[in-house]
Amino acid sequence: MLFLGIETSCDDTSLALVEDGTRVVGMRTASQIEMHNLTGGVVPELAAREHVNSILPVLRDLCETSGVSLDCIDAIAVTRGPGLVSSLLVGDLVASTLAWLLDIPIIPVHHIGGHIYANWLERLDADIRFPLVILTASGGHNELVYMPRHLTFEHIGRTRDDAAGEAFDKVARILGLGYPGGPLISKSALSGNAVSIDLPRAWLPGTYDFSFSGLKSEVLRVVEKELRQSDSLSGQFVADMAASFQMAVIDVLVAKLFQAAREYNASEVHIAGGVSANVLYRETVERRGQELGFTVKFPVKNVYSTDNGAMIAALGYFLYRDHPQEYTMWRNVLPDPNLKLFESQ
Ligand code: KG4
Ligand code: ZN
Repeated sequence: MLFLGIETSCDDTSLALVEDGTRVVGMRTASQIEMHNLTGGVVPELAAREHVNSILPVLRDLCETSGVSLDCIDAIAVTRGPGLVSSLLVGDLVASTLAWLLDIPIIPVHHIGGHIYANWLERLDADIRFPLVILTASGGHNELVYMPRHLTFEHIGRTRDDAAGEAFDKVARILGLGYPGGPLISKSALSGNAVSIDLPRAWLPGTYDFSFSGLKSEVLRVVEKELRQSDSLSGQFVADMAASFQMAVIDVLVAKLFQAAREYNASEVHIAGGVSANVLYRETVERRGQELGFTVKFPVKNVYSTDNGAMIAALGYFLYRDHPQEYTMWRNVLPDPNLKLFESQ
């Protein structure tokens, strides 16, 4: 089945054509990074306006470059939430209209569930072994999840304050590096020393929860102290802070991930979400997986780690494959900015 996946929950207008939940036929993304860089973060009204401007040109470009006409599409998957309501509305309206026009099923999906299913893209479904433990971390969420089987998400832990990606973004702003913080911090960290500045790790013993706000406050405190001693931050100080901060985040993410993987007897350990594009994080998870005897998986391309339409199509396909009766040929998708992934949330 050929699915069109539509993702507009935050600052990327991303559409993709995916066959049977795994084979990516094409993907086109209009990024708003340059615009949000000017304001140091996402301004919801501006994000929604950009989605309105971009979504139909992105759809046309996707169909033309993939050589696929609209009537070849079998179903549409669209992000229903969580996210910015005005941004979600753009994707949901376009998806609902297309589904009505083409008389095909529409599958509203959970954004974080989509990040989890990014690990199915360009892999064979049969190559993924349940049960698995997955840590998905990005700008808006930080969730440790147990999956005993397809489409079953059980909560293990989550952030109590900032998500890991959010912490990267805030620390990048403190260091004057720009937005989004993750790629800029990891680039700066390449010339820094990760053990040069002693930063705290919030272990929160006895839980699988995370906390990054204390780490961010400590970075701010050390930076302010440095600024009192010299007028500006030297390039070496910024690089050392970037490397030390990155290491502090990765230490906690990796330790909790594998602790959970052992307790839950996982067959595989996955990472996903924007932060899983981080090279050092991927390498550390892979190395730890080898040491402990776990198969590790992360999105096969960086563009499947950050927000993208293909992951939405992937989850939509598996939902439809397993529960076709739950999805009508057409429905008006109402965005839900607080959509829950777990019953217990
Ligand atoms: O998944 P995503 O595109 O959007 C949300 O759902 O939030 O993730 C974006 C987040 C941003 O906070 C960004 O700083 C972070 O992912 N990120 C990274 C890297 N690339 C993106 N964090 C660390 N290292 C990276 N290389
Ligand atoms: Zn996301």
